[in-house]
Amino acid sequence: MGQKKLIKFAAIKDYENVLEYPQGMPGKWAAYFKELEKNTVNINLDTLALTGSGQNQNEEIVKPLVLELACGRGEYAVGLGRMFADQNFVGLDLKGNRIWKGASIANRDGLKHVAFVRTQIDQVTQYFAKDEVSEIWITFPDPQLRLSKAKKRLTHPKFLRLYQQFLKPNGIVHLKTDSPNLYLFTKTVIELFGLTLITTTDNLYSTEFLQSDKWDDRCSIKTYYEGLNIASSNRIHYIQFKLDKELPFELDDKLKDIIAEFEVTETHESLARNGKQAME
Ligand SMILES: C[S@@+](CC[C@H](N)C(=O)[O-])C[C@H]1O[C@@H](n2cnc3c(N)ncnc32)[C@H](O)[C@@H]1O
Repeated sequence: MGQKKLIKFAAIKDYENVLEYPQGMPGKWAAYFKELEKNTVNINLDTLALTGSGQNQNEEIVKPLVLELACGRGEYAVGLGRMFADQNFVGLDLKGNRIWKGASIANRDGLKHVAFVRTQIDQVTQYFAKDEVSEIWITFPDPQLRLSKAKKRLTHPKFLRLYQQFLKPNGIVHLKTDSPNLYLFTKTVIELFGLTLITTTDNLYSTEFLQSDKWDDRCSIKTYYEGLNIASSNRIHYIQFKLDKELPFELDDKLKDIIAEFEVTETHESLARNGKQAME
């Protein structure tokens, strides 16, 4: 491993705003952010108080908790943190050297309501209690183009079922991607499972969408991978939806059949060759 990576890994071990594979965090995020705000050193996760959902009369109102999944350098956690002082933000990723970037900026700029978890997304349910998260942002995740890897896509029902375990009933999921394939796949999932689609566009920065009442200023935050244009689509696709229905396992096979009909199996180049495009 490179020297720079080692330095970053060592640095985040001392950061109060980075938790690596933390134990016992469900229900404790509000208390944790209060300690961050107080500049507490060596926050003891074991002694943090459990917080209710804030919805019962006698409970303290808690700030909404927003989760950025596969956050990389955490541009959304940090960017949203700058926009909304009245919410808490957690970026989650496996790679410590990437998290280091966002966590260092949050530390430098005194964003005490922005933190990071280093872990596997597959284990995300270990970190949040039921109804603890208000919104989820997924920005430029690996599109997992091969059909055989469809289950690894972060908007596959397999993952959506995990998110449902901690997302509030009316909670919202945002997906930003440059992959027409992932966009179309996600729209198919939403339609098949009858989820509520709030906003969808295959050209986020088109004048038409920018000027429409659907434009959301939060979408103006740009991430590192957004700048790379890996899918060569030259278009940013965006979907906002709710996880407001049950996701029956029986439909997973149907999903498999549907996507086998229209999806590319190799790359975006073959998508272009076949003249297929994500439908609006
Ligand atoms: C293509 S990058 C996008 C990063 C960032 N959202 C952006 O737009 O710049 C995908 C990120 O997902 C993370 N990732 C992939 N699989 C993961 C997993 N199973 N658990 C946690 N993070 C994962 C990678 O470490 C990587 O940082």
